[in-house]
Amino acid sequence: MSENIIEVNGLEYSYGNFKAVDGVSFFVREGEIFSFLGPNGAGKSTVINILTTLLPLQKGTVRIAGYDLSKEPEQVRRSIGIVFQDETLDRDLTVWETLELHGRIYSMPKSERRERIDEIIKLVELQEKRDVRTRNLSGGMKRRLEIGRGLMTRPKVLFLDEPTIGLDTQTRRRLWDYIKMVNDSGTAIFLTTHYMDEADLVSNWIDIVDHGKIIASGAPIALKDALGRDVIYLQTDNDEAATGILKGLKAVQNIKATSQGLVVTINADGTRCLPVIMNRLHERGIDIKSVNLKKPTLDDVFVHYTGRDIRNAGAEKLPRIQPKGGR
Ligand SMILES: Nc1ncnc2c1ncn2[C@@H]1O[C@H](COP(=O)(O)OP(=O)(O)OP(=O)(O)O)[C@@H](O)[C@H]1O
Ligand SMILES: [Mg+2]
Repeated sequence: MSENIIEVNGLEYSYGNFKAVDGVSFFVREGEIFSFLGPNGAGKSTVINILTTLLPLQKGTVRIAGYDLSKEPEQVRRSIGIVFQDETLDRDLTVWETLELHGRIYSMPKSERRERIDEIIKLVELQEKRDVRTRNLSGGMKRRLEIGRGLMTRPKVLFLDEPTIGLDTQTRRRLWDYIKMVNDSGTAIFLTTHYMDEADLVSNWIDIVDHGKIIASGAPIALKDALGRDVIYLQTDNDEAATGILKGLKAVQNIKATSQGLVVTINADGTRCLPVIMNRLHERGIDIKSVNLKKPTLDDVFVHYTGRDIRNAGAEKLPRIQPKGGR
């Protein structure tokens, strides 16, 4: 049986009067890839910052690598590696100097430091950039260097806060290769992301967070399976009446009114159910504006539990941008 590398119970955190983390409990097993998935402002970075000792522990208990965060923060710090959401490289240092400085901060003996730097530079494939200042690296290279830096001290767990944000698809995929390699060598990964597809592909376990609370938890497959066999997104001219009609159908597992229209999860083959559903609605004079049948994804899981789409979920307060004329 594997041990828990992270155990969090009843974690709460407030910025002034605002409760950003509202009673979060979870654990991460040794060697697994665990994802915290949620929209902007869900509280993901706040949790990471508490776990990595950057923010104080206000309420709750945290154990990392067997150490109690409130009593042994220094041991916790020595057991973990961190890659922050925002870039934290010194622009004037070279790749090699960045790693050297980090090794010194952690009092790694010189010979071990030098050996580890060589290993890391090879691992993240920055051999050719060894003496280049970080200001002159590409976005993906900077991220790789930050991951390498996080791994200098051979941590038991690596925290990655939005590791792939802002990178192009190809660079993101490559970065995942590194992260998987790191994980294969035994390091547990705690990551936050709002890229559903990535979380789905790489995680052993996902906790979905929204407004400071965990709203769903499970292996990616289990989370999707719980939704049903197929999902139908439906927009009609009368969602209320449509809901009433569809509720009576045996194959319909659940119906939710969301910002995307009705989300109908069904426990049968969607291609067979869809014509029946469309017929029923037509018979009752309900006009269907759009319909979309698909296999459940983590996006659907998020919509199911929150009634919102994750891509729009954090942006409710942002003003709508009107496109300029001409199109
Ligand atoms: N220093 C701060 N002072 C006040 N409020 C803060 C501070 N940092 C974060 N918050 C608020 O706490 C909430 C959670 O923020 P947090 O950065 O943890 O979210 P997140 O899930 O990491 O979001 P993102 O996906 O955008 O990185 C947000 O409402 C945010 O505005
Ligand atoms: Mg964040």
